[in-house]
Amino acid sequence: MIKAVIFDLDGVIVDTARYHFLAWKRLADELGIKFTEEDNERLKGVSRIRSMEILMELGGITLSQYEKEKLANKKNTWFVDYVERMIPEEIYSGVRVLIEKLKERGIHIALASSSKNARTVLHLLHIQNLFEVVTDGTMITHSKPDPEIFLLAAEKLGIDPKDCLVFEDAEAGIEGALAAGMLCVGIGSQEQLFKAHKVIRHTGDFTMEMLDEFNAVALKLNTER
Ligand code: G6P
Ligand code: MG
Repeated sequence: MIKAVIFDLDGVIVDTARYHFLAWKRLADELGIKFTEEDNERLKGVSRIRSMEILMELGGITLSQYEKEKLANKKNTWFVDYVERMIPEEIYSGVRVLIEKLKERGIHIALASSSKNARTVLHLLHIQNLFEVVTDGTMITHSKPDPEIFLLAAEKLGIDPKDCLVFEDAEAGIEGALAAGMLCVGIGSQEQLFKAHKVIRHTGDFTMEMLDEFNAVALKLNTER
């Protein structure tokens, strides 16, 4: 049975994935690196410094550790600027209702974001209270696609990973959830997120019928184990 749902933040709860993209794009433009939305898919879910390294790979440039950190910090300043101007309406529609319905079913709710800004975003949008447990980029050594953050969230909830369902918009996040032995819903395009157990366009599209289907899958998998 699904006993907990673990949500990613950027691109799943709120439209901050767009701000990460805009900030990386601004840095790429400054560095003269061609950077498209498709390239950006590789940056989703991974840590800030890993994102910087992927950008360097895309541009075929090498930088010292100092330079790398300086530029990643610059991107972060821009990202925080965008985030500070966000309004509560930028929370995806249907997310609050979905979380309420899940809670009514006795399901525990956690957040697992690679972002070190996750708490700031939750705070600015007044949505900290939606989550029983919050895990973020400040609490882990290995970012997604490593399963560490998902395993930490499950541990803090006191729920077995096999009873957890993850919502993710990033390929790296889906890989992390699967590596943690969890079930996973991809938010976005089937083509990009085909590794997930199910893909839906928007978080708010998830229904309780879908939850029942996941319960059946979980039951089947757990009896096979
Ligand atoms: C999330 C986002 C990534 C971002 C990462 C680190 O996983 O999907 O795009 O790079 O967090 O975020 P931070 O706010 O710590 O730079
Ligand atoms: Mg995300």
